[in-house]
Amino acid sequence: MHINEIAKLMVSNGKGILAADESTGTMTKRLAGVRVESNEKNRLAFRHALFTSNNINKYISGVILFDETIRQYKDGETVGEILNNQNILPGIKVDKGAKKLVGSDESITEGLDGLRERLKEYFDLGAKFAKWRGVYNIGTQFPSRNCIVANAHALARYAALVQEANMAPIVEPEVLMDGNHNIQKCYDVTSKVLEETVNQLRIAGINFSGMVLKPNMILNGNDSGLKNDKEQVAELTLKCIQNNLPTEMPGVAFLSGGQSEFEATENLNQINKQNKSSFAFTYSFGRALQQSALKTWAKNLSDIEAVQKVFDERSKMNSLAAKGEWSADLENAA
Ligand code: 13P
Repeated sequence: MHINEIAKLMVSNGKGILAADESTGTMTKRLAGVRVESNEKNRLAFRHALFTSNNINKYISGVILFDETIRQYKDGETVGEILNNQNILPGIKVDKGAKKLVGSDESITEGLDGLRERLKEYFDLGAKFAKWRGVYNIGTQFPSRNCIVANAHALARYAALVQEANMAPIVEPEVLMDGNHNIQKCYDVTSKVLEETVNQLRIAGINFSGMVLKPNMILNGNDSGLKNDKEQVAELTLKCIQNNLPTEMPGVAFLSGGQSEFEATENLNQINKQNKSSFAFTYSFGRALQQSALKTWAKNLSDIEAVQKVFDERSKMNSLAAKGEWSADLENAA
């Protein structure tokens, strides 16, 4: 499949992406939160339940996997095959995490060394797309120009290698919600981050039709005490993205970033209601697609059907939001 087709499929038809690429450390934290032991078997059991739910292929275009998961088997099939057989695109997180930036309390994402070879292996394991996340904090001094440029440069080098390997890159510059800043500050910082990211992608010669951007929504800081107004969130998020993105890009798939499941869906819906462009705005949620399902699973590890029902319902709500057809009443009826 050509990378332009892959990128388009990832964000089209009211479908979105399930980010199930938590590193073992992050997954261990998530499982500890619901008092489930983190071992290889349990990590696969939960993820396999999601990947084989009745309606996953109605709402999910692709799944981002972690290195451990793409190598796992269930009933004689690899996880990549399980997804591919349902016309769901398997993807792979390829960054090696955010490390300390020299001379600052900020971070730089690493993982470029040996990436060309790793990508070849992932392609052979069935991956159709990849993901790399850069992280930016908002603070009085942050993010520094150094942090913005260094992460944009790494994202661009990663994206070029992924396209060379015939896969579509998800480029994820995440401005964190942590902090007491207001929504305008988030807008200003995210604008700078997106501008530099696109600048570096251009320098690296990226084919914008064959990639997907995964940004944060524009929100008040978590500790600001300010309530987000959904119309304002949608207005500023759309403005920020449309001012900075090349129109050839097929669309954008937001991260949820620590919003509740309800907020993430509500804001995505509002963005689509107010969207007048041809860009697709959809989801690439981790927590906002998995939280309730994980809590349900923790109550009874053998009741897979219950987990799948909760996951399908959450995915359906987000799929409606990706088309601007969601409403809170539908949520209550569920
Ligand atoms: P959240 O939706 O939980 O923010 O996760 C998305 C993701 O892929 C982070 O890299």
